[in-house]
Amino acid sequence: MPIVTPLTEQFELEFPIILAPMAGFSGGALAAAVGRAGGLGLIGGGYGDGDWLKRELPLAGNEKIGVGFITWSLAKKPELLDLALDHKPRAMFLSFGDLKPFAGKIAAAGVPLIAQVQTVADAKIAASEGAQFIVAQGSEAGGHGSGRGTLPLVPAVIDAVGKIPVIAAGGIADGRGLAAALALGAAGVVCGTAFYASREALTHERIKAAAVAASGDNTVRSSIFDIARRIDWPKRWTIRTLENAFHREWAGKPEALEADATIQAQRYRDAAAAGDADVAAVIVGEAIDLVHEIRPAAEIVRSIGQDAERRIAALNGLVT
Ligand SMILES: Cc1cc2nc3c(=O)[nH]c(=O)nc-3n(C[C@H](O)[C@H](O)[C@H](O)COP(=O)(O)O)c2cc1C
Repeated sequence: MPIVTPLTEQFELEFPIILAPMAGFSGGALAAAVGRAGGLGLIGGGYGDGDWLKRELPLAGNEKIGVGFITWSLAKKPELLDLALDHKPRAMFLSFGDLKPFAGKIAAAGVPLIAQVQTVADAKIAASEGAQFIVAQGSEAGGHGSGRGTLPLVPAVIDAVGKIPVIAAGGIADGRGLAAALALGAAGVVCGTAFYASREALTHERIKAAAVAASGDNTVRSSIFDIARRIDWPKRWTIRTLENAFHREWAGKPEALEADATIQAQRYRDAAAAGDADVAAVIVGEAIDLVHEIRPAAEIVRSIGQDAERRIAALNGLVT
């Protein structure tokens, strides 16, 4: 029995699963693979590299995909929104910042706006800005996020935003997580960690290997890697990654890292290019326990979706 929610209906999806627009990792091929498998594929426009976006958008081929941006960064390069809208995306996904400067233009282009938030207060703002879907992102998530847990945040956001469908993100990487999100009242899920080490992801192969070998026990949320990458993230958002040797070296010493930034940034860049997981960030969330191998994205979408269908059907048996 297929799962039908406002998300599957809006985008005519087979499964209520959205590929997170992971900056630099969710490229055209991955987004298209997720779309072909029945989910919603989003390219990760991230920090706004126009050349990267011009290269990745056509790689989706005939498959219609959406685009995501990091909102505070898009504000510095607003022309990239036009570039994305020119490709008639299936959806625009904005996270981490003020939607107001962009919501009107996205609506005028007739493109559904999906807004990711980390607090109930920001969910209310996203609702007032006209977001068609609101993603409630819990702290378990890989990549940037904030402090609230997915389990209580999702129903609190649902209660706060009235009729707007809410999607759960953070810690969901298998059918159990999707079934749980639907039980909370969500219309679907956003998954990043589940796809970070997928075959089509633009992640370095050595970093993928480190990710699939990792446990959620060993993830941390901090600003260390943003300082090393020289990305000026607003302080309210930190990044969840594996705790590696570089993190252990600098944890609790952000000022010292800033002071040595020129040398450490070069060290970081070299490590990222080489896929050295002792220094470069392996950007995964707590759900990395559930990712055991490098698999094609289509297989991941189908296994999450079909397992959730079976589990929901089986749950009926609990009610007598
Ligand atoms: C490697 C990685 C990169 C990410 N980059 C972005 C990004 O550029 N923009 C964004 O809105 N969210 C980004 N996220 C967060 C996702 O949108 C999503 O909230 C998160 O992946 C959900 O939690 P999960 O990782 O447990 O699936 C990223 C997540 C990961 C794992």
